[in-house]
Amino acid sequence: MKQYLKVDEWSIIEESFDPTNHEISESVFSIGNGFMGQRANFEEQYSGSSLQGSYMAGVYYPDKTRVGWWKNGYPEYFAKVLNSTNWIGINVFVDGTALDLAQCQVKDFVRELNMKEGYLARRFTAVLADGKELAVDALRFVSIARHEIGAIRYSVTPLNFSGEIRFVPYLDGDVKNKDSNYEEKFWLEVEKAAGADLSHLTLKTKKLDFHVTSVMAYDVVKNGQRLELSPALTEKEKYVASEVVVSAAQGEEVTLYKYVANVTSRNHGLGELVEAGTKALLEAKQAGFDQLLGEQANAWAEKWKESDIIVDGDASAQQAIRFNIFQLNQTYSGEDDRLNIGPKGFTGEKYGGSTYWDTEAYCVPFYLSTAESDIARNLLIYRYKQLEKAKENAKKLGFSKGALYPMVTMNGEECHNEWEITFEEIHRNGAIAYAIFNYVNYTGDKSYLGQYGLEVLVEISRFWEERVNFSATKGKYVMLGVTGPNEYENNVNNNWYTNRIASWTMEYTLEVLNYLKTNENSHYTALIDKLQLKDEEVKKWQDVIENMYYPYDEERGVFLQQDGFLDKELIAVKDLAPENLPINQNWSWDRILRSCFIKQADVLQGLYFLGDRYDLETKKRNFDFYEPMTVHESSLSPCLHAILACELGYQEKAYEMYLRTARLDLDNYNNDTEDGCHITSMAGTWMSIVQGFGGLRVQNNELVLRPFIPSHWKSFSFKAMFRGARLKVNVTEDSIIVVNETDSPAAVRIYDQSYTVGGNAEIKAERMSVTM
Ligand code: BGC
Repeated sequence: MKQYLKVDEWSIIEESFDPTNHEISESVFSIGNGFMGQRANFEEQYSGSSLQGSYMAGVYYPDKTRVGWWKNGYPEYFAKVLNSTNWIGINVFVDGTALDLAQCQVKDFVRELNMKEGYLARRFTAVLADGKELAVDALRFVSIARHEIGAIRYSVTPLNFSGEIRFVPYLDGDVKNKDSNYEEKFWLEVEKAAGADLSHLTLKTKKLDFHVTSVMAYDVVKNGQRLELSPALTEKEKYVASEVVVSAAQGEEVTLYKYVANVTSRNHGLGELVEAGTKALLEAKQAGFDQLLGEQANAWAEKWKESDIIVDGDASAQQAIRFNIFQLNQTYSGEDDRLNIGPKGFTGEKYGGSTYWDTEAYCVPFYLSTAESDIARNLLIYRYKQLEKAKENAKKLGFSKGALYPMVTMNGEECHNEWEITFEEIHRNGAIAYAIFNYVNYTGDKSYLGQYGLEVLVEISRFWEERVNFSATKGKYVMLGVTGPNEYENNVNNNWYTNRIASWTMEYTLEVLNYLKTNENSHYTALIDKLQLKDEEVKKWQDVIENMYYPYDEERGVFLQQDGFLDKELIAVKDLAPENLPINQNWSWDRILRSCFIKQADVLQGLYFLGDRYDLETKKRNFDFYEPMTVHESSLSPCLHAILACELGYQEKAYEMYLRTARLDLDNYNNDTEDGCHITSMAGTWMSIVQGFGGLRVQNNELVLRPFIPSHWKSFSFKAMFRGARLKVNVTEDSIIVVNETDSPAAVRIYDQSYTVGGNAEIKAERMSVTM
C-alpha cells in the first residue's frame, strides 16, 4: 500500500518526483485508445528503473513455452502482447548535457492524468549538474478520434541561462519484453527512412509476421513562430532520429510538437503500411496539435456521457471510480471484434495481454451498461469466432466432441501452461455461456441466439456432457479433477460452482433451442443440421440437469465448495496473525492447498451469477460461511462480495469490500501496480457501485434498481444504457431519480414498483431500506 497521489475528482496527480514510485506511476498514468496504449514512460531519456511499454492492440508474439515438467496437452507457446516501437521518444540536450531525471535535481514536478479530456501532462524544473535550470512542460495523448495517432507537445524554457537546446525526436524499435521466456528480442527490421519532414520505421515480429510501421513528423515553435530548421538525421538498426538545435534566450519557451502514426498489418496490407501511416500522419499534422487535443476532449466527453459515476461527499471514491472507468474505456472501445481485454490492458506485460474469463464474468456487465449494445456483442463475437479453436482444444485434450475455451488466449488457442489451471479450471467455459445469457437478458437482442449464441452453447454443453461421469455409488453425475474459481484448491471433485454452471449451461441451451424452435423455426432447423445435434444429446443433457450431484451440508444449509471441504480445519481469516497475509507470499503452496482459505469468490460466484434462483436466506448462509475464510488474493474477489453484501443488507461489509477494489492501483494496495494496472478488476469496481450500491439487475425486461447509499456518501449517480435509452440514476438519502436522457422510453423497476420512464422524462421514487 502506497498513497502518494493527490485526490482530485477528475485527475490523477503526482506532485513530486520519487524514482521509487516511478514504475508504479508508469502504470497508473498510462494512456490508451483501445487500439494502442502507452505506459507513462518519459519522452526524454531516463537512466533510472523503468518498464518501457508501447503496445499495439492485437499484435502479439507466441513465445515458446517454458515449463519445468512438460505435460501432454500443454500449449506450445504463451502469447504476449508486445512492447513495440518506442514512438514517444524525444531526447533533450542542454548545451550538450542530456536531460535525464535520474541525473539531475528535479523540482516542482507535477504529473497529471486528465481523465476528463484524456491526456497525460508533466511539468517540472530540472537543475542540471552545471547549475543550469530549465522548465519542462509536456503533454501527450493517443487519439480516440484517430486510432492510429499519438501526439506530444514538449516545451522547454531555460530559466537561468541562455543556450542551445537540442531535441532528438526518434522512433526506436530496438525494444524487448521484460517477460520474454528466452531473453529474446521479438522484432526484426523491415525498412526505415529518416527524413527532414517525415521519418518512418517498419518492424515485423520474428513469428506470425505482424508488421508495425511508425511514421513521425514534428514542428518546432518559438515565440509563436514555426522554425525552419535543417535537421541532422540518424539511421541505425531499428532506429531513426532527427536532430535539431535551437537557441533559446533565458525565459524563452521552445516547443516541439511530435506527431506519430502507428499502423499495423492487422488493418492494412503489408505493402501499404508506409503509405497508410503517412496519410494518417499528414492529416493529423495538418489538423494540428490543438485541434487533435480538442477532438480528444470531445471524444472523452461522449464516453463520460455514457459511463460517468458521480459520488457526492467522497472525493477519493470519486477519483477512484473515474480512474477505473477511464482505464476500461482506454483499453477496449469495442469497435474491433478481434480485440479483447487483457487483465492488465495496455499498462504492463503481466498476463500477456491475453483474454481470460475475466472478460465474460466481469467486463461484459460494464460494457453492457455503459455503451451501445454492439460493444458487448463484439466481445461475444470474439468467442464465437474462436469456436473452432475451442473445439480443437477439447479434441487435443481427448474429448470426442464439444468445445473447451482456453483459460488464456490471444487467437483462440490455449496459452496457459499449468496443468491444474489449463486442464482443470474449466469453469471458464460456463462464464462464456453465461455471458450470452447476460447479453440477451440485458439487451433483449434475441437475434444473437440464432445468429451466434446457440452454436457456442451447444458445443459447451457437449463438453460438459462428456466431462461429467455417472457415479454408481452416488447415483448422480459427478465432475472429478477440477479447479474452481478458487485457485487455492486444485484437482478437487465436484466443485459446486463448476457443477452448477455446467448444468445451468445445459438448461440454458435447452431453453434457447426451444425458443428458436418456436420463434425462428427455419433458422432452428438449419442450425440443428449444421450442429448435427441429436435427440440423444438433448435427452442426456436433461438427465444430467436432473441428476447432477451438488455437495451440500445439511447442518449448515450451505453448498460445499467441493467434496471433503468440511474435513478442513475451518479458520476465519481474521484469526490469522497478520504476518501470514497475503498467504500466497508467505505460505508454501502445499500449506495453501490444505487450508480452508479461499482466494476468490467460488460458491459465491455461482450465487451471484444465478442470483435469481436462490433466495436471500440461502445467499446469506453461504456468504456468512465462506466470506470469513476468503483472503481476496485475486483482485476479482472483493467486488462480488460487495454486491452480495449489498443484497444482504451488510452495508459496512459492502463498503469495506468496495474499498478494497476501488483504489487498488491508485494506492498500490497489492504492492504490484508497477507490473500494470488491474484492468479487468476495475470492471468489478464499477459492478460494486452499480450492481452493489445501485442494486441494478435486469429481470423480465425491466431495469431493476434496489439502491442504498454507503453512509460515507451523500448521494451518487450512475449512467445505465438500457435498450436504446440512456438513464441517469441519481440516488440520494431519501430518493431515487431516474432521468431519461434520450428519446426512447425505458421500463424500470425501483424496489418492487414498475415504471415507464418516457423519453427525456424523469421519475422519482422514495428510497427504502434494503436490509434483510
Ligand atoms: C485469478 C483468475 C483470473 C486471472 C487473471 C487470477 O489471479 O484467480 O480468476 O482469471 O487472475 O485476472
